[in-house]
Amino acid sequence: MNCLVLETEGSLPVWREMPSPALEPGCVRVKLAAAALNHRDVWMTKGIYPGVVYPVVPGSDGSGQVVEVSEGNRDWLHREVIINPSCDWGKSEAAQAAGFTILGMPRQGTFAEEIVVPVSQLASLPSHLSMQQAAALPLAGLTAYRALFSRAKVQKGERVLITGIGGGVALFALQFALAAGAQVAVTSGSPEKLERAVALGAEAGFLYTDPAWFNQVVERFGRIHVAIDGSGGSGFLGLIDASEPGARIVNYGGTAGPLESLPMRKVFWNQLNLLGSTMGSPADFAAMTSLVTQHRIQPVVDQVVAMRDGASAFRRMDEARQFGKIVLAP
Ligand SMILES: NC(=O)c1ccc[n+]([C@@H]2O[C@H](COP(=O)([O-])OP(=O)(O)OC[C@H]3O[C@@H](n4cnc5c(N)ncnc54)[C@H](OP(=O)(O)O)[C@@H]3O)[C@@H](O)[C@H]2O)c1
Repeated sequence: MNCLVLETEGSLPVWREMPSPALEPGCVRVKLAAAALNHRDVWMTKGIYPGVVYPVVPGSDGSGQVVEVSEGNRDWLHREVIINPSCDWGKSEAAQAAGFTILGMPRQGTFAEEIVVPVSQLASLPSHLSMQQAAALPLAGLTAYRALFSRAKVQKGERVLITGIGGGVALFALQFALAAGAQVAVTSGSPEKLERAVALGAEAGFLYTDPAWFNQVVERFGRIHVAIDGSGGSGFLGLIDASEPGARIVNYGGTAGPLESLPMRKVFWNQLNLLGSTMGSPADFAAMTSLVTQHRIQPVVDQVVAMRDGASAFRRMDEARQFGKIVLAP
């Protein structure tokens, strides 16, 4: 089969042939119709994750058709599916177990013509979505769902601020928060992306490149009850300053790097809840797909790129030029 392969640290992926994976007990073979890029795939080209064994096939998101099944899984044969990339979560809803992994390193990922995955990772393709739209959903949708609902427990009517709205997780967070009846504002480094977010239903947009953006949030939107942040960095302090006392600030990523110092007094005096969030449990995944189906949510797809030209998609995400998910078609 052909796949997008990372040969060494610091290189972009190349399209080449690799041996097809063997079918293992408890697993099925999926012929992939589409895959989608996440920032994790870009981080992998930069050697951020320890212990990567090259060559590696990245990719955590995929949709396709089951073409071969192991014993006992005949029910899945020929079904159209999406793949849950959150593997071996464990028994607790509070956090993932020590053996937790994400599809696409160390296990072969979805940037390939086919993949072998445990049957427990499969879910039916939401019927209102095309294969390409559905491929955009799993990792980012799951992360957004857990951050908003399992961690922040967002309520109807609350003011929610979502940072870096061009991002895949951020856009799902916008769509899910609106579906839950929240009032949503967003930040971005791009005025055009703010306009597009407003067209999707955001009440207001703020440029995080303006040093006083958090004052503008308070003046034009109001103090926030919930923040959903994948950026970290110094902008995190702005979230603290724009928060209502008792607010929940959920962080799921650090695109802008670490926070140099945390103003403890503002945290304890304002009774702030700082919450970390990563991916999600099988229950989160099931609840996320059911929300998407119930509200007929359409993932925002930035571009569909031929998988063999995938290197250009990696560059586009690295430069934050995308608005929504970049989908790769084998
Ligand atoms: N913990 C988890 O389970 C989990 C899951 C998924 C992702 N992540 C992490 O979350 C982050 C986002 O992932 P993604 O796949 O959604 O990435 P993505 O699609 O590449 O989005 C990244 C976005 O970050 C925004 N950004 C960049 N610098 C910023 C800054 N200084 N302040 C605010 N926003 C900034 C940009 O938004 P604009 O284009 O609007 O400026 C950019 O589009 C990554 O760091 C990723 O590793 C973690």
